[in-house]
Amino acid sequence: MRLKSKNALSGSGSEDESEAGSGAEGKEYSGKKPENTETVCVGKSSGSSERKSQRLLESYAFLSNKMPITVRIFTVSGEFVPLYEISISKISENTEIILEKIREELITEVNLGLVDITSTKKTGVIEQAFMDTIELLVRKHFPDIDDHTTNFLTAFLIQRSLGMGNVEILMDDPRLEEVAINNSDEPVWVYHKNHGWLKTNVIVTTEDQIKHYATMIGRRIGRQISVLEPLLDAHLSEGDRANATLLPISTKGNTITLRKFSRDPFTITHFIKYKTIHPASAALIWLAMQFELSAIIAGGTASGKTATLNVLASFIPPNQRIVSIEDTRELQLPKYLHWVPLSTRMPNAEKKGEISMADLLVNSLRMRPDRILVGEVRRQKEAETLFEAIHTGHSCYTTFHANSAEETLRRFTHPPINVPETLMPAISMIIMQFRNRRSGIRRTFQIAEITEDSKVNLLKQYDTKKDVLVDVNKSRSLLNTIELYTGYSPKEINTLLREKEDVLKYLIRNNVDHVDTVGRAMAEYYTNKEQFMKLVRSNKRQG
Ligand SMILES: Nc1ncnc2c1ncn2[C@@H]1O[C@H](COP(=O)(O)OP(=O)(O)OP(=O)(O)O)[C@@H](O)[C@H]1O
Ligand SMILES: [Mg+2]
Repeated sequence: MRLKSKNALSGSGSEDESEAGSGAEGKEYSGKKPENTETVCVGKSSGSSERKSQRLLESYAFLSNKMPITVRIFTVSGEFVPLYEISISKISENTEIILEKIREELITEVNLGLVDITSTKKTGVIEQAFMDTIELLVRKHFPDIDDHTTNFLTAFLIQRSLGMGNVEILMDDPRLEEVAINNSDEPVWVYHKNHGWLKTNVIVTTEDQIKHYATMIGRRIGRQISVLEPLLDAHLSEGDRANATLLPISTKGNTITLRKFSRDPFTITHFIKYKTIHPASAALIWLAMQFELSAIIAGGTASGKTATLNVLASFIPPNQRIVSIEDTRELQLPKYLHWVPLSTRMPNAEKKGEISMADLLVNSLRMRPDRILVGEVRRQKEAETLFEAIHTGHSCYTTFHANSAEETLRRFTHPPINVPETLMPAISMIIMQFRNRRSGIRRTFQIAEITEDSKVNLLKQYDTKKDVLVDVNKSRSLLNTIELYTGYSPKEINTLLREKEDVLKYLIRNNVDHVDTVGRAMAEYYTNKEQFMKLVRSNKRQG
């Protein structure tokens, strides 16, 4: 069966669309507004002939490996979670049938056994070998298509033949945080930034296929997953993370959970715009960070601790050396900072080669850092080393699991962490993050200082009803410490706070919200202050 080029592609104006795609892989390139009220009927996409009412929640497009993908998220009567449907915009059903035929032919033509199918995106050599054969086959089956379309179909086939097929498309949607394969009977689930857990129209149809994907992931990091070792936890390059479990440990089937690393981190501008924090509170934290006071960022699970640490790191001056230590690379600091990221490694199958958080902390002290960022403190050893780092003159920032500033202090000073209470004032500030369990919104819940007698003094407290962070107590140690270390008078400190608030408002007015543009503004503030403040003030007058 052969198709002419025009029939091969479902959309018109394909040339333009694919032009838009080049060089922007994995990024959104267009988005439609949610059309909350539309009611349409599910056709074949629901897999049932029964007509059910649908309500479209959101629809948008993005590029995956140069392929334009369209996403529809909708509710369907009788389904208790919304559905997430992807379609590859330019491939019609007929084309897909032919592509599947090419794929089968490819498998007989190329000896798969000889190829290390580990990383389709990275290993250019393998891709090239396949690309040549695939291109030959595509040209054979679609003799009249142009080069552009040939490239697009070749990319599609590579992903199908070597990678995780449609699962990779899900991994390229910038709005997804998690992709979960539970077994071969159920569709793949995804966790969407705006809609939470959704069921997709992607299914990995056999248990063997899921196991094959898990093996591929394992090989990528030099680990095996097998009957004897049915659990795999892998930190992939770029910060993504994969976990796999095999039958019969996971009793319903083989599973793979992929956690995606956010490619576009939040900045202080987003935080203020989304009302996570107000400019005045952000200015206070900024001042404390500028003058090298250490802080703990605490909160419950997924309250936004790591995001906050990342946001606040932009306040560090560019002439200071930062070493960060994490289990999984999550932090993404502005490129203007002098930053060395380190991450831990799990032991191999022979239980060798482990590099722990504490190992890295000890090592970081020999790297002459000014600031140390610790992904999360969970154990005594890490806490001990953290305090040692602070006491040897480094300012440290870490996240910690607790629900209030009081609890943070209590958990640090009691088993299993057991830091002596007298050491706690080395931490000048506790910043609590919070996720409202009813609405899901994230806010800064408390800003507190630790006084010299190791007590928590709450400076600001979030009022859940009014949705504002209100001042509660006057500072007894934080501002004194700044005065002591800088020689500034209280009046001068107030001026600095107001100045910082102005800068933050300037960033918001001008939509300076990318991690690097915010970083650039901070670098200007620290190194070219007079000029920069002129800009801030003149913009304020104009605005
Ligand atoms: N201020 C915020 N506004 C909106 N979303 C946020 C905010 N802060 C964080 N998030 C989102 O919340 C999720 C969890 O954030 P993050 O990983 O920072 O939380 P965490 O407290 O460090 O979680 P964990 O307990 O897993 O370490 C992420 O998807 C992140 O994008
Ligand atoms: Mg975290």
